[in-house]
Amino acid sequence: MSAGSKPSGAWGRLASLASRRASDHLRDLAAAERRFDAMSLRVGGLLLDFSRQRVTRDTITALTALAAERQLPQAVDALFRGDIVNVTEGRAALHTALRAPAAERPPAVADAIEVATARFLAIAEALRRGERRGSTGKPFRHVVHIGIGGSELGPRLATEALAPGGAGRFDIRFLANLDGRAAFSAFAGLDPAETLVVVVSKSFRTRETLLNAYHARSWFLERMGSADGIAQHFIAVTADAAEAQRSGLGVGERLPMWDWLGGRQSLWSAAGLPVALAIGAEGFRSLLAGAHAVDRHFQTARPDANGPILLALLGLWNANFLGAAAHAVLPYDERLATLPAHLQQLEMESNGKSVRTDGSACDAHTVPLVWGGEETNGQHAFHQWLLQSTRACSVDFVAVAAPGHDLAERHRWLLANCLAQGQALAGGRPAARLGEDPLAAHRAVPGNQPSTTILLDALTPQHLGSLLALYEHKTFCQGVLWGINPFDQWGVELGKALADTAFDALGGGARIGMDASAAGLVDALRRSGGSPHD
Ligand code: F6P
Repeated sequence: MSAGSKPSGAWGRLASLASRRASDHLRDLAAAERRFDAMSLRVGGLLLDFSRQRVTRDTITALTALAAERQLPQAVDALFRGDIVNVTEGRAALHTALRAPAAERPPAVADAIEVATARFLAIAEALRRGERRGSTGKPFRHVVHIGIGGSELGPRLATEALAPGGAGRFDIRFLANLDGRAAFSAFAGLDPAETLVVVVSKSFRTRETLLNAYHARSWFLERMGSADGIAQHFIAVTADAAEAQRSGLGVGERLPMWDWLGGRQSLWSAAGLPVALAIGAEGFRSLLAGAHAVDRHFQTARPDANGPILLALLGLWNANFLGAAAHAVLPYDERLATLPAHLQQLEMESNGKSVRTDGSACDAHTVPLVWGGEETNGQHAFHQWLLQSTRACSVDFVAVAAPGHDLAERHRWLLANCLAQGQALAGGRPAARLGEDPLAAHRAVPGNQPSTTILLDALTPQHLGSLLALYEHKTFCQGVLWGINPFDQWGVELGKALADTAFDALGGGARIGMDASAAGLVDALRRSGGSPHD
């Protein structure tokens, strides 16, 4: 809340609960009998363990009262109904319709989704069977997915997670960034006659994606000696087919995204083509089914037994009432290495705002910094900060029961480390327990860092779909609770506009609107006169 204003209603009750119970320690809370049973929840193939959150029944009651007060149930209905929930852009947000059975989709989009999903999955299957071939008649072996932000992270995460040992006949690569080296390495060693380029861009105006796509086109032309085959080798996935046409890339197939689909929720559309190439149409439909199972749960479960709602409420409790300015996502599974980056985009691009839907200023902090890293690497790097720094940080541990390989002992060690970190963060090690140890103050670990553990039975398409839908709904709920629109991202536009000016200035053009630092750096860069090969 803003300084001086007195919180009222459910928010006020939460504030007074937080101050009354400030001395509660997870060490004691977690010791309560049957706490694990009372505070864990199964959602499909996912177990959500909230027992290491710094809450009691009273806190959950007050948090669900906040959800009611902020009209979360009504907002959920509006989302699924296809109302204009993205008010600043005047759009619905219908990603859930992409994974719903045909009869449950809002009528306005039902047919378009049916046709589009069937089409891109049929293309994936034809490519997998080697029936759909390149311009010289060779079957495709390489796929380069070009896109950035939501047009890359979800598809990359799902491809890595579900096809960790390789994607069958395909070598699938992802190209997002601007550095020329990213483009060189994406195409290194590939035979253009066997390469399919999938350009994913909702707007088809994103600088990085267009530069990478033009690079791909030049690479293809140089090696193939003609543009004849381009149409067979380039597919676009976009909401703006006209812009894709205008780009002059010469793409053949254009698969749809829609204005009601956010980039960060686009995995469920043809943007997920690499995933379908890796795991097949049936696997992709399981991914959709897993997400849909969570959609149903989200719509129907009571708030105090509702996975996404609890994740959202507990995240808000940690961020707004327990002072956690950061939230770490720690997957204990290499296959989920991209999960922190995906959730960083999902949560921070959605809820990294300070203005409410009605244009007024937020009177409480919104999304914390979301960051993380995978498995025990982090324990030998940043976990020290989680364990002994002066800062509060909440954590999500994500682990998978079935390893998907036969190195059982290693997997047991991996899971053991995950469980141990949760316990160390919660319970810590009080100095008093270290007795006469002269280093007791240094060895003591304060604990009381809240965490949630999400355990997947196995990393199947179904369960991954559930996991990703869970976080999408968490993000939506938090937007509603903070009163902001999670479906726009106006902030990123400023950097794009300034980069246009800086680009011109670096080439000797005008410096209109540039600040003194940027102008000074332009001078320094121009004086350094680096050639492209330096
Ligand atoms: O950076 C903003 C953003 O618009 C993201 O929301 C989006 O996922 C990404 O850029 C890519 O946009 P597009 O799919 O239009 O190329």
